[in-house]
Amino acid sequence: MIRTLLLAASVLTLAAVPATAQPSGGRQQVAPVLATADAVDPHSFARPREARVSNVALDLSVDFAGRTVAGTATLDIVRRPTAREIVLDRKGYDVQSVTDGAGRKLAFRFGPADKDLGTAFIIGLRPDTRQVQVRYRSRPDASALQWLSPAQTAGKRQPFLFSQGQAIENRSWVPTQDSPGIRQTWSARIRVPAPLTAVMSAPSEGVAGSFIQATLPTGTRTFHFRMDHPVAPYLIAIAVGDIRFQQLGPRTGVWAEPATLPPAARELVDTEKMVDAAERLFGPYPWGRYDMIVLPPSFPYGGMENPTLTFLTPTFIAGDRSLVSLIAHELAHSWSGNLATNATWADFWLNEGTTTYAERRIVEALYGPRVARQQVALGIDSLGKAVDDASGPTGADTRLHIDLRGRRPDEGLTDIAYEKGAAFLRTVEANVGRERFDVFMRGWFTRHAFQPVTSAMFLADLRQHLVRGDTALERRLQLDRWVYKPGIPDNAVPADRQAFAAVDAAVAAFPRAGAPVAAWAGWTTDERLRFLQRLPRKQGAAQLAALDRGLRLTDTGNSELIFAWLDLAVANRYQPAVPALERFLTSQGRGKFVRPLYKALAADPSWGRPLAVRFYRQARPLYHPLVTRDLDALKL
Ligand code: BES
Ligand code: ZN
Repeated sequence: MIRTLLLAASVLTLAAVPATAQPSGGRQQVAPVLATADAVDPHSFARPREARVSNVALDLSVDFAGRTVAGTATLDIVRRPTAREIVLDRKGYDVQSVTDGAGRKLAFRFGPADKDLGTAFIIGLRPDTRQVQVRYRSRPDASALQWLSPAQTAGKRQPFLFSQGQAIENRSWVPTQDSPGIRQTWSARIRVPAPLTAVMSAPSEGVAGSFIQATLPTGTRTFHFRMDHPVAPYLIAIAVGDIRFQQLGPRTGVWAEPATLPPAARELVDTEKMVDAAERLFGPYPWGRYDMIVLPPSFPYGGMENPTLTFLTPTFIAGDRSLVSLIAHELAHSWSGNLATNATWADFWLNEGTTTYAERRIVEALYGPRVARQQVALGIDSLGKAVDDASGPTGADTRLHIDLRGRRPDEGLTDIAYEKGAAFLRTVEANVGRERFDVFMRGWFTRHAFQPVTSAMFLADLRQHLVRGDTALERRLQLDRWVYKPGIPDNAVPADRQAFAAVDAAVAAFPRAGAPVAAWAGWTTDERLRFLQRLPRKQGAAQLAALDRGLRLTDTGNSELIFAWLDLAVANRYQPAVPALERFLTSQGRGKFVRPLYKALAADPSWGRPLAVRFYRQARPLYHPLVTRDLDALKL
């Protein structure tokens, strides 16, 4: 099936680019680049309709002392015969030389610099150029790379490196066209100092979980990877460290530092079942293996859906598997995001909203409808907050298709994309019935496998395959309103008011009855979160002390719960929580946790700010460049 689709895709490319301009490799599939105005990416300098990269071959050495990766990137290009140049994206890496396939020098220059986008990297083409080789070196401050000293790892003896490409950071270490609408196959040969191991978001050349790898007398080890499916370049990822692998199921496993591996593997026991459930919902898993790597605590996200190798924060390890909806989420991206990919960041909701919807379907399949309904209800609460944060239901940024021109794509990283997107799909599902909706979703992924997609394409596909001229249904769905207009349409499926009946009763009773000590013991993490998030924001010290004593919040090892508690504590200047706050902020750097806490502290000049200054001074070296970029702006 997928093979046929890819053939169809290359036919499309042929239509856009003359047949003489096919890549030299021949082995790789070439995915189309969309031609419509809404698919033009304002966050890339590339002009893919003139000349585009179809395959990237990296040959790199990782230097921990110099904090650089250096070597060559060999790019296969597809071009119009008349194209005089190819434009890549570049943010910081230094270029030593550019040559063609025959080793002849090619002229190159850089465009003016933009602090977020970097510069255009313009390479002159000869009439017959089909391949371009860039010799380069990344800079120590490359925004996609975090270099950790041994002290910042669990093992404390070896350094660690990991990358985070989404949204537009990979242009700091991979010379290519860094736009999600320009899919590329890729391969890599990576040299690292022994005894470290390199893993990437592609099959290793060799048997699963092992590598064709040699330790040379020079003390280096070499690893090979190859991704034969065309992927968006933000999905190229690397991690290097003292890491080991543990098999979880026939096609699932986890990498982590030795000390982290046993608890990580215990937390992840359900992964193989999740892949099976996801396949039943969305169609065959197309990437071969589904492995994960648990990174050191400075990883700035909860998870990142790098193909074949999801990157994870260690803060999802709660000991009771209560935070594994994160795995369902990253796994779901194997279809929504990695198969069908937003062509530009304006349609980020197509990646994240669809994934959030799919995540809860996987959770339902594994843990039952009650758990899924509760997670939907928590999501609806988050959506309400996101609408408020975006200046209410008329705010321009409450639109799914969002205008990010002149802004960083991360500004679209809000619960509007995740939760309004998911709410939209739940609304369509409720209107057409689950059975029909599931057929449609499977079809959507198959019809757009390994291709870029836009909001307009999603709506057109939905109209063609689901609405099919049913004017009453069309009116009921309010499709354009959901995607292009601000606010939440009135046909949104409301939250199940019964989902948290007991918890909500405890919230209402709290002023009289106090902390629900007995009930708490029997509550799930989601129920506990609902309770803490629904309590009135203003609390006195006595109430907070009673909560902490009764529910043992300060001692919890659950990162989501401690965050919810500290958030409440900071809002009320609750002094006894300060040691726990310090521990939390100096032991992990997940942006979702540290950004709001510092922001709240910084906004309170007499109590919070001095604390924030003290914690930040201590913790800043731990935090990822993407996080310090925002926290530095608080001028702590
Ligand atoms: N792809 C995102 C992470 C991301 C988005 C990184 C945009 C950079 C730019 C990932 O799938 C994600 O959504 N992670 C969430 C977890 C999820 C359960 C909501 C996170 O990191 O919190
Ligand atoms: Zn996601």
